Amino acid sequence: MSAVKTEAEASAPALAGGKDEPKDAERREFFAKLGMGSLIVAAMGTGLFTYEYFSPNVLFEPSPIIKAGKPDQFPPGTVTFDPKTRIYVINGPKGFYALSAICTHLGCLTAWKPELNLIACPCHGSRFNRDGVKVAGPAPNPLPWLKIWLSDEGYLMVDRSTQLKGEEFLRV
Ligand code: FES
Repeated sequence: MSAVKTEAEASAPALAGGKDEPKDAERREFFAKLGMGSLIVAAMGTGLFTYEYFSPNVLFEPSPIIKAGKPDQFPPGTVTFDPKTRIYVINGPKGFYALSAICTHLGCLTAWKPELNLIACPCHGSRFNRDGVKVAGPAPNPLPWLKIWLSDEGYLMVDRSTQLKGEEFLRV
């Protein structure tokens, strides 16, 4: 008998099982887990895409209707500026009214200047009196008067989406 093994004889134990069989099992288990993981990731992606596809494409904006506060929060003769809601609530001699604080020139947010007794726009210098009438600057229109009413609970309510055609006062 020859002591020299052929190449086929040398690799025979590996093919017939023996010592390498546990390694093959581990490898198969690894690939099975990898495949399962890929399927789970793909299923999650599909689920997410389907959810996005069927969700309504809606932009949720805050309501245009503002609960400004109780009338006694606005002393007579005051102009109250609320930068959050972008409105002025004015308690004038004829009653309450509300103005938009958005400049009619290019839409900057105006501010009440009590020392000037004016509403001023910081962008290009437009000025408005407390009735919203422009007194200086490039703004083409007065500040819009907004619908104002008293709720059943006694709050001043302002609808920022409804501009009045003329001056209207709310007597409380
Ligand atoms: S945006 Fe107010 S003056 Fe231009």
